Amino acid sequence: MDDRVISAGAVDDDVQYEAGLRPRSLDDYIGQDRVRDNLRVSITAARGRGEALDHVLLYGPPGLGKTTLAYVIAHELAVPIRATSGPVIEKPGDLAGMLTNLQQHEVLFIDEIHRMAPAIEEILYPGMEDYELDIVIGQGPGARSVKVPLQRFTLIGATTRAGLLSAPLRARFGITHRLDFYTEVDIEEIVRRSARILAVAVDDEAASELARRSRGTPRIVNRLLRRVRDFAQVRADGRVTVEVARDALHLLEVDDHGFDELDRRLLRTIIDKFGGGPVGVNTIAAAINEEKDAIEDIHEPFLIQAGFLDRTSRGRVATERAYRYFGLTAPGRDTRLW
Ligand SMILES: Nc1ncnc2c1ncn2[C@@H]1O[C@H](COP(=O)(O)OP(=O)(O)OP(=O)(O)O)[C@@H](O)[C@H]1O
Ligand SMILES: [Mg+2]
Repeated sequence: MDDRVISAGAVDDDVQYEAGLRPRSLDDYIGQDRVRDNLRVSITAARGRGEALDHVLLYGPPGLGKTTLAYVIAHELAVPIRATSGPVIEKPGDLAGMLTNLQQHEVLFIDEIHRMAPAIEEILYPGMEDYELDIVIGQGPGARSVKVPLQRFTLIGATTRAGLLSAPLRARFGITHRLDFYTEVDIEEIVRRSARILAVAVDDEAASELARRSRGTPRIVNRLLRRVRDFAQVRADGRVTVEVARDALHLLEVDDHGFDELDRRLLRTIIDKFGGGPVGVNTIAAAINEEKDAIEDIHEPFLIQAGFLDRTSRGRVATERAYRYFGLTAPGRDTRLW
């Protein structure tokens, strides 16, 4: 795990703070309006009918609030949530045990659900669809299969890689939502909410400065807020003014767009080594010596939505905006008069 200030993944000291900053209810959950509205309807309807909520799949880049939302859903359903994660479940029996222990309408949350082993995934199929387990007793010709009934439960799966989910698994989720990067307005509201909870005074202009540089990601803005708060306490009178925020962000080397070193290296490589693209993601990964997964999960989605990168059928292309960012002119688009 990396510890860059603007990494979207959770780093060690995020964990203790995130627990305190996590919204508990749908009303507290800021942004993602479409997802929220849809979930409110689904939850109200399920509760009205006295049924378990359909299984929910949440996907999207790290730090956007998937785990948070899973807990919010359970809170709104007023049921307990049992949490586990794909790589942690080692044996089919582990998952079978969890499923048989679930009470009626409870939530089982499986984080990183794309990292579940296929043999374990198969247990889930009848569990999700018919609320029963197929357990094989004995071996060889004498083996027989026994069906064990389960309570009606809700599975919530979270993943950064919906594309890696097998088709049969994906098809068993009745509700699927993709979380998107937050707008600056929503991120500003998150800053203000977190500042209230952390009891730190943040000026409006400082809040928008932090929001602008946070890659539309709540986890990042909360982290920046904590760092800036330290800075305000040590170098100023504790109040986060826009000057304090700018100085602190400068010291932390967080750039205007919230780019990190890898974002810059990625764009620069496409421009310098591949004439701006199109170039395949495998080639890029090899050229900058980074994992393809990290590029596809974290860096690309952000650079694409910020308008610095295009994904075409023939590969990735650096946009004019990317050239301008480095003070360059895109090839073939030279507008000078000579
Ligand atoms: N909608 C929101 N409103 C306010 N704060 C939020 C919201 N979504 C997320 N956060 C904050 O961001 C932090 C990170 O969110 P969370 O851990 O849910 O992300 P995630 O999508 O599960 O990330 P990962 O893919 O790394 O597991 C939370 O602890 C919470 O403080
Ligand atoms: Mg999570």
